[in-house]
Amino acid sequence: MSDIIAQLEAKRAEAMLGGGQKRIDSQHAKGKLTARERIDILLDEDSFEEIDMYVEHNCVDFGMDAQHIPGDGVVTGSGTINGRLVFVFSQDFTVFGGSLSERHAEKICKVLDNAMKVGAPVIGINDSGGARIQEGVASLGGYADVFQKNVLASGVIPQLSLIMGPCAGGAVYSPAMTDFIFMVKDSSYMFVTGPDVVKTVTNEIVTQEELGGAVTHTTKTSVADVAYENDIEALLAARDFIDFMPLSNREEVPERPTADPWDRLEESLDTLIPDNANQPYDMHEVIRKMVDEGDFFEVQPAHAGNIICGFGRMEGATVGVVANQPMVLAGCLDINASKKAARFVRYCDAFNIPIITLVDVPGFLPGTSQEHNGIIKHGAKLLFAYAEATVPKITIITRKAYGGAYDVMASKHLRGDLNYAWPTAEIAVMGAKGAVEIIFRGKTPEEIAEKTQEYEARFANPFIAAQKGFIDEVILPHSTRRRVALGLRKLRNKQLENPWKKHDNIPL
Ligand code: HXC
Repeated sequence: MSDIIAQLEAKRAEAMLGGGQKRIDSQHAKGKLTARERIDILLDEDSFEEIDMYVEHNCVDFGMDAQHIPGDGVVTGSGTINGRLVFVFSQDFTVFGGSLSERHAEKICKVLDNAMKVGAPVIGINDSGGARIQEGVASLGGYADVFQKNVLASGVIPQLSLIMGPCAGGAVYSPAMTDFIFMVKDSSYMFVTGPDVVKTVTNEIVTQEELGGAVTHTTKTSVADVAYENDIEALLAARDFIDFMPLSNREEVPERPTADPWDRLEESLDTLIPDNANQPYDMHEVIRKMVDEGDFFEVQPAHAGNIICGFGRMEGATVGVVANQPMVLAGCLDINASKKAARFVRYCDAFNIPIITLVDVPGFLPGTSQEHNGIIKHGAKLLFAYAEATVPKITIITRKAYGGAYDVMASKHLRGDLNYAWPTAEIAVMGAKGAVEIIFRGKTPEEIAEKTQEYEARFANPFIAAQKGFIDEVILPHSTRRRVALGLRKLRNKQLENPWKKHDNIPL
């Protein structure tokens, strides 16, 4: 018996070494952790239970029959994050460059299947040279199998991708189909075709980092959500992030104890809105003063800053926050902001996360660039997402809510459950000056100024909307947290269903 145990231990030790010490050293020299080191940081201590440790590839071409490394380039299994179950796969770059073989793909599929069966999130750590070149089409089939599982799991279990090395070619489409992507600066990249192919085809000279690094994808493309300085920072952030997530769409949002009083008043919010309506203020301040302990996990903080999206907690339970940011583009909705927030709203709706919307929006951003790039279709995404969402929706208009953007931002008309306004709210078709210049065209500047004042007095307040019942109550800014907390309590058992359909046809 002791022999057998010793053999097992030897076998495990061999598998744990992946591609060997030399390749581990080379991974470390690049500032990267190994697949197993990453899992150790991601999961609670000693909670990881590996499966499929001895799986090997089935390829016999190009000398592969002589090279077998247990695990075949991906470490898979499950463990806990702060005691809650998650499933994990972590590609091992030290084994054939983490490349994806048929068997490697089967291991990832098994993780997705297991997670779907019990309803728990999947975190994929990507560090791979792409399709296992020696296997050819078998590896392409493997990718497609993973894609299919990602799609079926979408909206059922949260899927988070951590990009911690190369992710190129069709391989990018598995993370792209997951809910959120975190990247590591300088050591990870994602592109469909790399710099060499780009140079051959278009003559452009570009580095990997410029083409598809973490900064590019979290600022320009929005393919990724957050960029981190190194592996450890990204893995610790993933732990924080998972703490906000329900385990699946069958579960309620997680709740954790908080010492923050639900009725905490924030007097400073009463003086946050500047006297001059064109002066900005930082909407982050409202968010941080509203949620428990000021703890807010922002997604896509470096992209479309005119809208803020992220997760916080109220009375310990997760909420999604969407907020116009007057500090960027005056808080206008543009194409990028609409796409960013629409996806976020849909995620929250899929996973039973109540949505709190803070509104200060002067309208959609004007211009040929916006119109010609399809603001109609992209703006419609956000409108659609809010309108179809059935989770509790609480909206607070802090200042401007003009035009179509008023409708879009979780208005009463889109089934907002509780629509509040601060006394500083201005709910109108458009800003007073613009409105007067249209309806009193040709009048003298003095007359325009007088009419503008008149228009402001009539519309630059929340009471016309409140008279019509579009606003449920005008609340004092300092009581925002208390109102939202009470509202969420009331909405806990909200029941609302959309008509049966195979699926909707959101303007993609
Ligand atoms: C098999 C691979 C591999 C691959 C890397 N390796 N990529 N083995 N298939 N795709 C192996 C290398 O042979 C090497 O083995 C080890 O991994 C480390 O690779 P290096 O090149 O030494 O590392 P580095 O210099 O860091 O370069 C990393 C790299 C490069 C940029 C990823 O390896 C590379 O360009 N690989 C090929 C990428 C590629 O074209 N993949 C196919 C894309 S098409 P040893 O034994 O020396 O350690 C694709 C289609 C997917 O993925 C379609 C899905 C629908």
